[in-house]
Amino acid sequence: MNPNLLTRDALTHFAAENRESFEQELKTLVEIPSVSADPAHQADVRRCAEAARALFERHGGKAEILETSGNPFVHGWFGEDPSHPTITVYNHMDVQPANEPEWTAEPFSFVVDGDTYRGRGSTDDKGPAVTAFFGALAARRAGVPLNIHFLWETEEEIGSPSFASGLNLHQARLKTDAIVVSDTVWITRGKPSTPAGLRGLKGFRLTLETADHDLHSGVVGGAARNPLAELIKVVAAMMDGETGKVKIPGFYDEVVKPSKQELEEWANAGFSVETFKKDHMITGMRTEDPLKVMKRVWGRPTMEVHGVVGGYTGPGIKSAVPPRAEVKLSCRLVPAMDEQKTIERIRNFVAKHFPDVQFHEEHGLAPFSGHVTGPYAEAIKDAYRFAFDAPCSFTREGGSIGAVKTMEDLLGCQVFFLGLSLPSHGYHAPNENYDWEQARGGMAAFAHYFETVSSIKN
Ligand code: BES
Ligand code: MN
Ligand code: MN
Repeated sequence: MNPNLLTRDALTHFAAENRESFEQELKTLVEIPSVSADPAHQADVRRCAEAARALFERHGGKAEILETSGNPFVHGWFGEDPSHPTITVYNHMDVQPANEPEWTAEPFSFVVDGDTYRGRGSTDDKGPAVTAFFGALAARRAGVPLNIHFLWETEEEIGSPSFASGLNLHQARLKTDAIVVSDTVWITRGKPSTPAGLRGLKGFRLTLETADHDLHSGVVGGAARNPLAELIKVVAAMMDGETGKVKIPGFYDEVVKPSKQELEEWANAGFSVETFKKDHMITGMRTEDPLKVMKRVWGRPTMEVHGVVGGYTGPGIKSAVPPRAEVKLSCRLVPAMDEQKTIERIRNFVAKHFPDVQFHEEHGLAPFSGHVTGPYAEAIKDAYRFAFDAPCSFTREGGSIGAVKTMEDLLGCQVFFLGLSLPSHGYHAPNENYDWEQARGGMAAFAHYFETVSSIKN
């Protein structure tokens, strides 16, 4: 190993030398609309996996596409020396749909605007994936004695439905000493954080039909049932829209409160409500108290209404009684809530009070409790300090990554997080972006991380 190639200066130089190549590779991936939620983009998801495989081959690595019962994995690697430890980096290559009207440029064209890179998937999660990849190139160039593997999923954004069975199928070749995931966000720019936990997610839909077609509200109104109004009543019975409090009996029973030590770490993480609002461009909040905001996003479960379908939505009003309606909802879950128990409580509540409302269960992801001690966790902290001159705090994420718990369960090793995205990058939002500062620092952070973990004895 040549440690001279792993100093801050050498890695800054490496990043500068490779900037053009990094941008080119990221452009290639961002310009493939790998939207996993849309069947019309299925071929693009496959094309993106192929492009990702080619990326490894262009840079002296090996890669294969691994089939699952759904979308494929990309498995790439550098090094296959059995006497070296193995680290696997997880990212996802699929992206959210991009049909928001606020996009200022075509979402699947890669726009370079100074140090900012714009396009769907630029920060979630193609930018961090390519950053980690260049971090591996830097580590390899310096001769770090480590086998570096990459597992890139292509259906994370739809809840990883084939991930567990795919992992079972390919388990033997994915044996690894630890996993590092780069798919999370910092507190804000300059304030790295790494999650000690992720929330889970359970989706469901309610539908109600009380007629066959639109009815004249003057002719039948007053006597005919209104399914839209009734579903609004169901939602109001389940939760308080103003406070967010969930009114389903037993909903909070299993929630484990954050420990005193954890709350202390959160309080010192540099979180500010003002910055949070600015980064996310939020105009209204349920609370402005910073600790309450952190507790609500990281430590408490939620019920959210995502969409209401039904009735007339054109200009003005149409005075009809709609025949049917649908509400789309989900709950974020925290440790130690159980997704099945939670959905049964909601189902029973709806069945008891609103017996003719149909209940449809959607996909679910378990919450995750992470690891904050030990050499791999220390290596994460070192990496951030080394590359960004900033201390990193262990907080939690309000979001969910289905693959994380599955990888721990099936590969029998621990998962850590070296995220590079910022709140202002706009996960899932129009004009999603990533930037060179995070990429350059991220390459150094990953290279340093690989160097550190190469000497951990298991
Ligand atoms: N990268 C996110 C997860 C995430 C979100 C981490 C917020 C940190 C903060 C991931 O790509 C994601 O969006 N997950 C979805 C999963 C869902 C669509 C099944 C989520 O959390 O909603
Ligand atoms: Mn993601
Ligand atoms: Mn996402």
